[in-house]
Amino acid sequence: MDKGFEAREFVKKIRPYKPGKPIEEVVRELHLKGEIIKLASNENPLGTSPLALEAMQKALNESYLYPDDNCFYLIRKLASRLGVDPENIIAGNGSVEILPLLTLAYLGPEYSAIVSQGSFIWYKIAINIAAGELIEVPLKNHMRDLNAMRSAIKENTKIIFLDNPMNPLGIINTRDEIENFFRQIPDNILVVMDEAYHQYIVNKPEYPDSFKYYKEGKNIIILHTFSKIYGLAGARLGYGLADEEIISNLMKLRISFNVNRISQVAGIAALDDYEHVKRGRAVNDAGKEFLYDAYKKLGFFYLPTYGNFIFVDFEKDSNIISESLQREGIITRTLKQYGFPNALRITIGTEEQNKQLIKALKKIL
Ligand SMILES: Cc1ncc(COP(=O)(O)O)c(C=O)c1O
Repeated sequence: MDKGFEAREFVKKIRPYKPGKPIEEVVRELHLKGEIIKLASNENPLGTSPLALEAMQKALNESYLYPDDNCFYLIRKLASRLGVDPENIIAGNGSVEILPLLTLAYLGPEYSAIVSQGSFIWYKIAINIAAGELIEVPLKNHMRDLNAMRSAIKENTKIIFLDNPMNPLGIINTRDEIENFFRQIPDNILVVMDEAYHQYIVNKPEYPDSFKYYKEGKNIIILHTFSKIYGLAGARLGYGLADEEIISNLMKLRISFNVNRISQVAGIAALDDYEHVKRGRAVNDAGKEFLYDAYKKLGFFYLPTYGNFIFVDFEKDSNIISESLQREGIITRTLKQYGFPNALRITIGTEEQNKQLIKALKKIL
């Protein structure tokens, strides 16, 4: 188009997010028949929380009504679970919705934000949406280097993004590292602590308690999602927890009715589905051990994970492996976009799915 009608410069710089391929797309492209196994987007292989499913089915009849704009019952329930006030919580259309709200509220061209290499890619997109300055800090031996992140702070730095566990690496910064970090950074920098996979982690004393920092009055927003262990990725629901003033600023920027009524009831019901969470965790733990063992035997480099996915480096172009796996009906995630051309991020599936994956890998390699 040449009409002298151009987007603003910062928009041109935005590189859109490329999500894991949906099953429908792979089936369409490759004319596949039979069961397709999706291990590309860290969804719960056990499916949707049954309690959430039942609640959603009941709510369908009311689809003609706008939802409750304030997510009153969902936010009250979350607040009482977490021991905070409802004013400390914002619900989002997925936790990812909260990222651009944060950068729009606090960033802008005159400010910078810091991310680590190997972090969830949406942080960079959110920074670009607000035309903020991006400071990306390299990894050190496949680990996030918090000391280097601290040293990268500039006068104009407003936000630091930390996913813990990191996606796609699956690793964490430990309690001691995070404690040190908070002690050393200025209070006027907001730390975004994105804990999308926190429910997969129990009895791990090395995993930091981010609520501690919130309670101490640190400048922090904690992000959680219903997409992972609750099996509600398709319903799009997440939330942020922070100081009331931060939340009220984010609320001004969101679109009305950002969380639909079906997702609101799903979230409320899912919070009581302890059984689904327990099963999800057990399947994940068992799958992790099986896959570690299999990857070891096959001689692949992998990173031990705290999430429901494993970073595997094949030491050759992973596009070839991913495409071959797709022809076997298994969808995985390539990590070129993340700067790892030889690695795949593979979600931990059910016992059967994991076996199929290893069988397919043996076949194609
Ligand atoms: C670290 C991290 N944060 C956020 C998200 C997105 O969560 P949601 O589905 O709630 O937008 C993901 C999804 O993969 C993630 O890995």
